This record gives sequence, structure tokens and C-alpha cells, in this order.
Amino acid sequence: MAKASEMNNGGPSGNGEPYFCKECKRNHTKGKIYKEHLKFAQFETDKKEIEEESESNEKELESEVEEIFEGLEEEEDITIELDEMEEELELDSDSDSDEVIINDANACVEAVKKLPGVGEATLKKLIKAGFSSLESIAYTPPKIIQNESGLGDKTTAKLVKASMSQLKIGFKSAEDVWAYRKNISRITTGSQELDDLFGGGIETGCVVEFFGEFRTGKTQIAHQLCVNVQLPEEDGGLNGNALYIDTEGTFRPERIIQMSEGLDLDHKKILKNIIFGRAYNSDHQILLTKEATNLIKEKNIKLIIVDSLIGHFRSEYVGRGTLAVRQQTINTHLHDLLRLTDIFPELCVIVTNQVQSKPDVFYGNPTVAAGGNIVAHGSTIRVYLRKGKGEQRVAKMIDAPHLPEGEAVFSITENGITD
Ligand code: GTP
Ligand code: MG
Repeated sequence: MAKASEMNNGGPSGNGEPYFCKECKRNHTKGKIYKEHLKFAQFETDKKEIEEESESNEKELESEVEEIFEGLEEEEDITIELDEMEEELELDSDSDSDEVIINDANACVEAVKKLPGVGEATLKKLIKAGFSSLESIAYTPPKIIQNESGLGDKTTAKLVKASMSQLKIGFKSAEDVWAYRKNISRITTGSQELDDLFGGGIETGCVVEFFGEFRTGKTQIAHQLCVNVQLPEEDGGLNGNALYIDTEGTFRPERIIQMSEGLDLDHKKILKNIIFGRAYNSDHQILLTKEATNLIKEKNIKLIIVDSLIGHFRSEYVGRGTLAVRQQTINTHLHDLLRLTDIFPELCVIVTNQVQSKPDVFYGNPTVAAGGNIVAHGSTIRVYLRKGKGEQRVAKMIDAPHLPEGEAVFSITENGITD
């Protein structure tokens, strides 16, 4: 049969002469393309091509399906391997310490249960709102307990009073305070100089604010502390886990892996013991902090990171008119964090803060922490970071109730924070 390509030359002979077409039984003029022939020819071509194509497509599909199945089988193997590894890890970590933590958490709830007037319903409301220990009830302003748990003012007042008396909160001797201070533990930063600046590492029971310009190492220090807090006490850790509230999306597990390997630690275990929460806005950030209260005992959390503290507030509250509300909300949030260290004295809270330029200052440092006085007065220890030569960074103690002002130089290397 004729093909479309042959029609262009006037006929099957291809010489352009008039000829008698056997297909339609009539003469054709040379050089003319006949519609019927074209369609027919094209169709025939298409049909053949389609047949050929579909044959090859079928073969390709068959081999693709085979490949996919092979891949799936491999993946299944990997998943099984991973499952087995996870099970092993879980078996490893299902040690006595986990039981102690669970019992510890139960003991806290048990104590709340024993408060006068606490029935099933009240207990449920308290736990749901994050008040699952005597400390959390005693240290939180009654109004906040009331708002968050939905309990009445009289019940709340009674609960706070009873918790305070059970915990013997009130005046105590300086000797008692000294006994408490002697029990404070510290987390190493990885740099001896930086540790010395903090009087031997970052201490528990307080909120530390690292503030500085971009790339001064705030996030890197936060990552390093999440690894170091898991070290045994003799190596400068707290034998505990970390909770990371990331407001900027800058948490990097791969950096945790590098840092763990730098300390010859099993990175899988280290990653497993960092509880991560991404805060998408300031309300979410506040909510995550409140939810953290319930996790501290249960998950043996010894370190909470908020990186960064102010970012969302800065972008959400724009304009002078919103300043008062913004500062008030930051203040409440900071006090939530401070209260956590009152409730859990073995906990350390680290917040990071961007700096903003203050163009009206000609002498001294032209930068101040964002959030202004609210953050300054809320955080217990404030450290200012600035860039040094190459990978070096300088930390300056700005505000600490018991530490001298001073500076420390540390480095950010492939393995993490070092001298
Ligand atoms: P902002 O969040 O932008 O305000 O900055 P930051 O203060 O949180 O800075 P960050 O902690 O992210 O520090 C960034 C710096 O850490 C980079 O400029 C690098 O110098 C260093 N750094 C980050 N990752 C690595 C790494 O894998 N290896 C090495 N050697 N250095 C790193
Ligand atoms: Mg950062």
C-alpha cells in the first residue's frame, strides 16, 4: 500500500508522471497529494508504528515492573534491617534508667492526686494543661493555672496553697540555699575557655541567652549542647535528653551526626534522644513550650533549646502600635521558660536571640538584643557572641548574677565546638 512519503513524489514510481492508481481505480495528476490516500497511508503507517511501539512499550513496561519489584524486595530487606536495628536499640535503651524515669513521672502525678480536693476529673484537667507535679502547680501563677486548666478560682487557690506547703516553699536559711547550689550540675560546651566563662560549664536551673549577629554560632552551640547533655556526668554531660524548639527551620540532624562522631558517640542513639518541635508561628512556639512541661520527666529532658526566641514575634508584630502587646507576649513566654527551671531545677534552658543594629550608638557596641529590656530582665545569664578570625568566635559574659564579666574564644569546627 501507498505511504504518505511516496505520495509527495506524485506516485509509487516517484518520478512525478501521471499514473493510474490501483487503490482508487483512477488517474492521478503528478505532484498532487490525495487526501484519501494520505489519510489511509498515514493511518496504515500509524497502525504499524503503534503496533511496533506498543510491542516495545509492553516489553519496556514488563522490565520496568520487574525492576520495581526487585527494588521493592530490596527496600523490604532494608526496612526489615532497620526494624531489627530499631528493636535492638530499643532493647538497649529499655534499661533500668527508663523505668526509673517512668516511675519518677508517676510519682509526680501521684503527689498531685493526693492534694486535697483532687478527684479524677480535676486530675485529668491538670495533667492535660501540663500541671502534672506539685512544683508546676506551686510555681505557676494561679490565674494561669485557672485559664489553662479551666478549674475554678477557689479550687486553684487551694491547690497552689497545698502544693506550696508540701514543698515547704517560703523562707529558708542561706545554708539551705548553699546546699541547693552545691547540687547544681553543668553541661560542657565542648570548649574549655567557654566552659570557664560559665564557671565550669552551663549550669542547670537557669535560662541562658546567647545573642549575636547572624553566623556567630548560636545555632551551632545549641546543636552541640543537645549532644553534650547526653554525655555521662563524668564527661561533662547530664545523662539526659534534649528538647529542641526550632522557630527558624535551621535544625540539622546531619550536624548532630558530625558532632556525635566527633565525640565517638553512636549518632543513632543521640538523634533518638533529641525531641524536635518546629514552631511555625509565635502562638505555636508558646504552645510547644507549654507542652514541653509534660515531657520533661517522662522523657528525661535536661536541656530545652528555643532557637530563636524572638524571630516569630518580630515578624508577626509589625509597627509601633503592636509593640506593647508584643513585649507582653514575649514576657509571658519567657516567664513560662523561667518557671520551667524553677519547677525542674535539674533542667537547663537555652534561648538564642538575634541582634538588631542601633544606629544612634556611636561608642561601644552598636548592637542590642532584639526584644529589648524584656529579654534582658527575663533571662538569667546573657552571653554576647561575635565573630573572630576564621572559624573563631568570641563570647562575652554580659549579664550573670554570680559570674564575673569576661570573654572567651572558641572555634566552630567540623567536629563541633572546641577551643
Ligand atoms: P543566625 O541564625 O543566622 O542568626 O546565625 P547563628 O548565630 O545561629 O549561626 P550558626 O550557629 O548557624 O553558625 C554558622 C557558622 O557555623 C557558619 O558560618 C560556619 O562558620 C559554622 N559552621 C556551620 N556548620 C559547620 C560545619 O559543618 N563545619 C564547620 N567547620 N563550620 C560550620
Ligand atoms: Mg541560627
